[in-house]
Amino acid sequence: MSFFYSKDSIEDLKERVNIVDVVGRVVPLKRSGSNYKGICPFHNEKTPSFVVSEQKQIFTCFGCGATGNVFEFMKRYYNLEYIEAVEKLADEYGITLEKRNRDDRRDRYYEVNRLAAAFFYRAFTEKANRGYSYMKRRGIAPPVLKKFGIGYADPEWTSLVDYMNSQGVDNKMLIELGLAAESKGRVYDKFRNRVMFPIINTSGKVIGFGGRALSDEDNPKYLNSPENIVFKKKNNLYGLNISRQSVGKEGFIILVEGYMDVIALYQSGVHNVAASLGTALTENQAALIKRYTDNVVLSYDADSAGRNAALRGMDILKNAGCKVRVLHVSDGKDPDEFVKKNGREAFMKLIDNALPYGDYKLDAAKSGLDLSSNEGRIDYIKRAAEIISSMSPVERDIYIAKAAKEAGVSESAVRMEVSPEYAGSVHGEALRGGSGGRGAEKSPGDEEIIAGRDRDLLILAMRREHYIDTISTMTEIFSQESSARIFNVIEKDYRENGALDENRVMDALTDSDRMLLKEACDSTPFYEDEEKVFRDCMRDWKLSCLTEEEEKIITMLSLADETGDDRKLKTLMERLKIIQMDIQAERNLG
Ligand code: UTP
Ligand code: MN
Repeated sequence: MSFFYSKDSIEDLKERVNIVDVVGRVVPLKRSGSNYKGICPFHNEKTPSFVVSEQKQIFTCFGCGATGNVFEFMKRYYNLEYIEAVEKLADEYGITLEKRNRDDRRDRYYEVNRLAAAFFYRAFTEKANRGYSYMKRRGIAPPVLKKFGIGYADPEWTSLVDYMNSQGVDNKMLIELGLAAESKGRVYDKFRNRVMFPIINTSGKVIGFGGRALSDEDNPKYLNSPENIVFKKKNNLYGLNISRQSVGKEGFIILVEGYMDVIALYQSGVHNVAASLGTALTENQAALIKRYTDNVVLSYDADSAGRNAALRGMDILKNAGCKVRVLHVSDGKDPDEFVKKNGREAFMKLIDNALPYGDYKLDAAKSGLDLSSNEGRIDYIKRAAEIISSMSPVERDIYIAKAAKEAGVSESAVRMEVSPEYAGSVHGEALRGGSGGRGAEKSPGDEEIIAGRDRDLLILAMRREHYIDTISTMTEIFSQESSARIFNVIEKDYRENGALDENRVMDALTDSDRMLLKEACDSTPFYEDEEKVFRDCMRDWKLSCLTEEEEKIITMLSLADETGDDRKLKTLMERLKIIQMDIQAERNLG
């Protein structure tokens, strides 16, 4: 947050001032429910859309999207830098800010880690040692070793402990950081006889270590710092401190599994690379990546553990909004071995040929199945349908075609697997009436009638088949299950016959659905302006999607504010602004 003042004292200031008073001094506010309302000082308006929440201590303008906490308000209103805004407020409230001192808790831990890293580095570089020979044997050149700060922990029991004690660092701290351990009253070095990989975050702080055994008999192969107040494995990626510039330049990041993969790729000239610290990729890591790029190439080991890690990692990245592709090295067990053997150009070729999300997932779905047998093909389509059902409409179309081709079945069969409610109505009575399944049917009497937007859309689809294409691209536009089911029958008839036939549709429907559709059509013999009704339906639908999104962001905003995540707050505010502008635009059209 601030370099000048301790975080605690800034938090303290924030707690002591009330945003309602601060804003109220310059913007007349009126109570409105649990909030306060006024004319927004950041844009021109006549009716108040500027809201201050006393409870959440934030302001938000629903007109221009300006939002933030009390410091953000000061910054904007008085046109100040963040730190000036803090100072001005502190001054006005007569609060003295504490200068940040070197004793800030975390800083002490970082400092000790940095001391340790320097200690290991000296041991690695100042005289001949087994760690240096080991890394030489693995083909890593001195400038690269230096770049990554590689070090050496000797085999003695108290080298680091002795050194740290001589520097005034107490054992308690060393133990908390996982650099030392205690047994029978004796404190000893945790890392011994290992090559040391300092793990450095994107602010350049040493947060932990990985230590590699020098021989394959030694267990564990890698010993890592335990979780502690400065080392949160879930939130960091190894190597990102070095690679982030290049990630920006190249427009994508390569994620690998291991420390050595990062270093070997780096040495070969592939610089936009980081490792997930030997664990499954986490949501926080995905969010961290997203600060630098949306494009990720996963390059995990060729073994089955690597394949499974890639499958899980893909979903996490995709959910975070990244575009993901996967490659597995074709020669050697990991990127380190591959690039040492085949060089940079060959690795770049692998990247070019990396498989996109859908292709990789569908490919993996084949594993263990015999596609020349009927059982194998059925199982494959089941797996494929599950994968496809999480995709966007356009992706669905593409991958339904691919899966159908792969299994040698029709696309419409795959489509039915993807949307079971579709199969429900198409197969008619035979599938219904089962015990509790989704086909379990209500009698016409207790089925609600079809109303509102759903009714208009079904009537329009029945009367003017050209609307069917547009409607079918909007998943979930129907709010009632019955209307979605009926529309699927309409669409199927239209697609299979190239034209819609009312009688055929009525025949294909179940008795109750047929009555519902008849009731709907009879209720409105004609529309004055069909095109306008359709446009209104679409607008109505779009608005409800946008409003839903808006509500979601506002909830997220209040959470982000609680956790004090300024960066997140900012992107959320930007998104909110865009959504609100879209909503306004839609409203103006109506
Ligand atoms: P690998 O076994 O693939 O390691 O584990 P590697 O990077 O290829 O190592 P070398 O080439 O044999 O030296 C991948 C990653 O999993 C974590 C480490 O982060 C490692 O880089 N790991 C592995 C551990 O944390 N502990 C272990 O015992 C093994
Ligand atoms: Mn390896």
